[in-house]
Amino acid sequence: MPQKRRLLVTSALPYANGEIHLGHLVEYLQTDYWCRFQKMRGHKCLYVCADDTHGTPIMIRAQRDGTTPEALIKQSHEEHVRDFADCEIEFDNYFTTHSEINREFCYKLYSSMVANKHLDVRSVKQNYCPKDRMFLPDRFIKGTCPECGALDQYGDSCDKCGATYSSSEVLNPRCAICGSKPVLKSSEHIFFKLNDFKSFLKEWLPTHVPKDTARKLTEWFSEDLHDWDISRDAPYFGFEIPGYKDKYFYVWVDAPVGYMASTKDWCNRHGNDFDEWWNSPDTELYHFIGKDIVRFHCLFWPTMLQNGGFKTPNQVFVHGFLTVNGEKMSKSKGTFISARTYLNHLNPMYLRYYYASKLNSSSDDIDLNFDDFVARVNSDLMGKITNLASRGAQMLTRNLNGRIGELDNAGKALVKKAIEKTQIIAQHYENRDFGKGIVEIRAIADEANRYFDEAQPWLGIKNNPESVRPVLSCILNVFRILAICLKPILPRYTANVEKLFAEEPYKWADALSPLENHQIGKYEYLASKIDEKQIDKIVHDSKSGAQDTNKPSESKEKIMINMDDFVKMELRVAEIVEAETIEGADKLLRLTVNLGDETRNVIAGIKSVYTPESIKGRLIVMVANLEPRKMKFGVSEGMILAAGNSDGGLFLLSPDSGAKPGDRIK
Ligand code: 2FM
Ligand code: ZN
Repeated sequence: MPQKRRLLVTSALPYANGEIHLGHLVEYLQTDYWCRFQKMRGHKCLYVCADDTHGTPIMIRAQRDGTTPEALIKQSHEEHVRDFADCEIEFDNYFTTHSEINREFCYKLYSSMVANKHLDVRSVKQNYCPKDRMFLPDRFIKGTCPECGALDQYGDSCDKCGATYSSSEVLNPRCAICGSKPVLKSSEHIFFKLNDFKSFLKEWLPTHVPKDTARKLTEWFSEDLHDWDISRDAPYFGFEIPGYKDKYFYVWVDAPVGYMASTKDWCNRHGNDFDEWWNSPDTELYHFIGKDIVRFHCLFWPTMLQNGGFKTPNQVFVHGFLTVNGEKMSKSKGTFISARTYLNHLNPMYLRYYYASKLNSSSDDIDLNFDDFVARVNSDLMGKITNLASRGAQMLTRNLNGRIGELDNAGKALVKKAIEKTQIIAQHYENRDFGKGIVEIRAIADEANRYFDEAQPWLGIKNNPESVRPVLSCILNVFRILAICLKPILPRYTANVEKLFAEEPYKWADALSPLENHQIGKYEYLASKIDEKQIDKIVHDSKSGAQDTNKPSESKEKIMINMDDFVKMELRVAEIVEAETIEGADKLLRLTVNLGDETRNVIAGIKSVYTPESIKGRLIVMVANLEPRKMKFGVSEGMILAAGNSDGGLFLLSPDSGAKPGDRIK
């Protein structure tokens, strides 16, 4: 039995002011595959993450939305948790950087910087908006690109020509919040003297970060490393720096500390010791990150830990960006797709399979090509892999009492080969070469399909079903092995396979013991093909709904709709024919409504005011052409209208007498 390892694994913390999108998911999915795989291998593995909640963009966004940063980050925490869960991403802990635990770690690391004299305080001149009375980060300056003259570019880079520059070089700079002209103003900043750690980093980098990353970072090492400005002036949403008034830690100081805070929070709640998890030499600590944030994770972060007396990461794994149809994700093309928009139309399993088939351990970008996405899922996952189960299990159930028999020699050879391949697949997964793992899985499925087609069991099944049992037993065994290998990638799919074979949740080692003389469960549909129309819908919705996150946006104005927008909405009279409570849902009722020529299921948040009995038979008004929404308790196929007020009052709208179910509201 191989040694049980203890792994502590993180993905980068998403900003709390933006939605999770398909670009983010490249990282969360690959980390999730890896952690699930490690757990299936019997290792102790803790996957922690959190929301990255501090900084200027969050503060401004809250102001703009007329709310507080605290309320904003609470809401996005809920949304993020829901999005991740619906994508089958399973964190052991999903915490927040806006927490006392995080503050304490932050102060601890900072006091070590003070104690070891690695800080310097000096005056810095920066852009300041006199109207908003705040210093403006580069992203909050807009102006003309000094390189190509493009108008309306951000203060750090140009979207048109790709140039990067400092905000002092921008021509005709303006405050992105209010449009007024910034002035230069001085204030004291606290700097962390990174250069004090140059020799530590020189030794540490080559063995703890990918080779190309280490090479790039060490290119700077021929000169002194620049000091890192770790302070920001008020107003700022974050942790105040002890001993100073109106000075806060820059968000990038407390963000990675959130990895520790999330770990500690988990330990507190599970009776575990933080030091055992973080500081023990027996723990392997891994960070998964994107290539845009290597500077923070490979220079500042290990240095902060080293100086604070904490264990530094064993490895930082760096991945590339996502392109869609070969290009940068674009809002206007509808390829900047939020996880929620995707989930509204497609099962996460497809994306999970596709990303896995594209992922490797390098930091090369990966491309989501819609045609390729549909082809790979439909022809490989459905046509090759799932097809083995549907053909094999249905034939076995219908004709042979659903009982797997004994394998014949040919069957034994094929199953043995598949078992041997699981070792190779495991090695690929361990190396985060998921694409190579999928290639192996597909090759086994190809071979099994060939075997099935050559054996032609559909001929024998009529006259001599028993002669076919070994073929079906082999096919189903191979499928079971594939499903075990796919479990880290497709956990829900494999959970259904476990049900099909009437077995306990699979561990990796279960692939080693084939099933013989085994009664299988009822065959339930495992998955269906992607309908391409769903992709058009995703693109359509992404064009209308996308919004970016960390960039400031203009103040919110009252949204006006025109007549065309209005007539798109189909309002109809409906009759509530059934109403019932939903177990586990405090606020919801499940309604069956009659729309004249059809009935629909609607889940409505009206339980606080209405009992099922009180509304049965009542006529109401509903939006009849709202796309079905998948909710935690089922799909809701429309929305019923009610008036609400700030006292919590809720009043269902009803037509005057004489109206009938199905009548259109005009
Ligand atoms: O780049 C980002 O999206 C950051 N929110 C990542 C933070 S990772 C860690 F340091 F917290
Ligand atoms: Zn301003």
